Amino acid sequence: MSLEKAESKTVQEMTLQELASFCTRLGFFYPSGRIYGGLSGFYDYGPLGAELRREILNDWWWYFVERRDDIWGIHGSIITHPRTWVASGHVDSFIDFIVTCKKCGAEYRADHLLEDSGISVPELTLETLSKLIKDHGVRCPKCKGELGDPTPFNLMFTTYVGPKKTVASLAYLRPETAQLIFTNFRNIIMTMGVKLPFGIAQYGKAFRNEISPRGFLFRLREFEQMEIEYFVNPKKLDECPFYNEIKGMEINLLSAEMQEKRIKEGVWITIEDAVDKGLIGCKWHAYWIAESLRWLKNIGIDYKRLRVREHIKTELAHYAVQTFDVEFLFPQAGWKEIEGISNRSDYDLRKHQEYSGAEMHIYDDGEKVIPYVIEPSFGLERVILAVLFSSLNEIKGRRVLSLHPKIAPIKVGVFPLVSKPGFVEKAKEVYEMLKEEFKTIYEAKDSIGRRYARADERGVPICVTIDGQTLNDNTVTIRFRDTREQIRVPIEDLKEKIRAIFREWSTYGA
Ligand code: ATP
Ligand code: GLY
Repeated sequence: MSLEKAESKTVQEMTLQELASFCTRLGFFYPSGRIYGGLSGFYDYGPLGAELRREILNDWWWYFVERRDDIWGIHGSIITHPRTWVASGHVDSFIDFIVTCKKCGAEYRADHLLEDSGISVPELTLETLSKLIKDHGVRCPKCKGELGDPTPFNLMFTTYVGPKKTVASLAYLRPETAQLIFTNFRNIIMTMGVKLPFGIAQYGKAFRNEISPRGFLFRLREFEQMEIEYFVNPKKLDECPFYNEIKGMEINLLSAEMQEKRIKEGVWITIEDAVDKGLIGCKWHAYWIAESLRWLKNIGIDYKRLRVREHIKTELAHYAVQTFDVEFLFPQAGWKEIEGISNRSDYDLRKHQEYSGAEMHIYDDGEKVIPYVIEPSFGLERVILAVLFSSLNEIKGRRVLSLHPKIAPIKVGVFPLVSKPGFVEKAKEVYEMLKEEFKTIYEAKDSIGRRYARADERGVPICVTIDGQTLNDNTVTIRFRDTREQIRVPIEDLKEKIRAIFREWSTYGA
């Protein structure tokens, strides 16, 4: 059957570097400023990447905002009032530690340098990092020179608002989208008539002046976040009306307690068991873990490669009561965070109340409440990496990008079998008809086999071919990317057939 997954195997997995070359060759991503040698930590989206980005953002918006009654979307500005970042704690606490080689001047993020040397870092404090570097005699990986003492480095990019470059005009590029949600909390209450529990969502750019960006799209200086702040009465953290829908879901969980016992592998456990055993602090937090995993799976990420890891105490951000990272199993690098899901308590709203003087409460059951917030925070580029690694297959000896059709940058390829009069006109007619509804490409150059191979690598789910028989009976073939199976369809039924295929495909792999 055409929609069944073809027998496929994961190719000898690419490294992140090989994936970067693959993505540049196909037009997904290019190093930004490539003609000038590139700028570390910045990538541009090429034509296929730009479509993929749009599809994933749209699907996220649909899944978490449009289809729900309890979440409102906003689109905040990138530069906002600088007091925001004083109140949130970013001006004081959004730091990493940098070490500089005394001989060659190379700069490293201290904890990464230690981890790369096989030394685990139990906590990110100046004293611990300094001691570990000295005790293990860590030297500069480039020139073996002696390293200086670690020093704190604030990751926020700064700029000036207006023509004068003074302390008073100093501003920050947002390092997370979340704070714009908190600073709009009152606006939403006043204009949308919301009641607890409810959420505010937004996606958009975030900027962090990472000391050492690396891993292709993994650690960037400019990236995109998709974040939700879901506000709940702190007395009702276990009153989640959707809990029964998700409690049976199995997740791969690595708790803080397991990590303290030096257990490295997670266990598969139902959400209900995790809550009952006190591993997940409350039902609303459990719900958002489940919803996040469901969405990641829906866009084609391999569920077996997703794990939920709790932050150990020393890792917790200053605002967090409990945090879980959703991690993806990357080739070589192992488990790495693609999403953080925190219980941020009422920390942010209270801080903004204190610094701005604006009231940050809402009434619930006649009582004034400053709500707690559960925050699912996805990084778009890391989600894209997980999608790409989950979709790269080798089918019958050839590389295929088996993207789910709903996020595939190109939905349909239209090809005349041969580039001859009659074939070309008919193919262009079909192309014009399909592109009204689906993102479609037309190609006539090269052999049909090559065109199919190129479409497979770009993740095009189906190709429509105009052949000799088309000219006689007005039928075309539809070829499926993952099975290479072909079916014949009258042109007049083609649009409806493609719609039906994509509808059926939404349950693909379920
Ligand atoms: P890491 O520990 O890897 O630095 P983080 O804990 O600082 O990540 P968060 O602050 O929780 O990350 O940010 C939420 C999400 O934003 C992350 O899960 C990730 O997907 C994304 N993100 C954060 N920093 C970067 C970055 N430098 N480049 C790309 N994505 C990022
Ligand atoms: N909003 C969570 C983070 O970016 O850290």
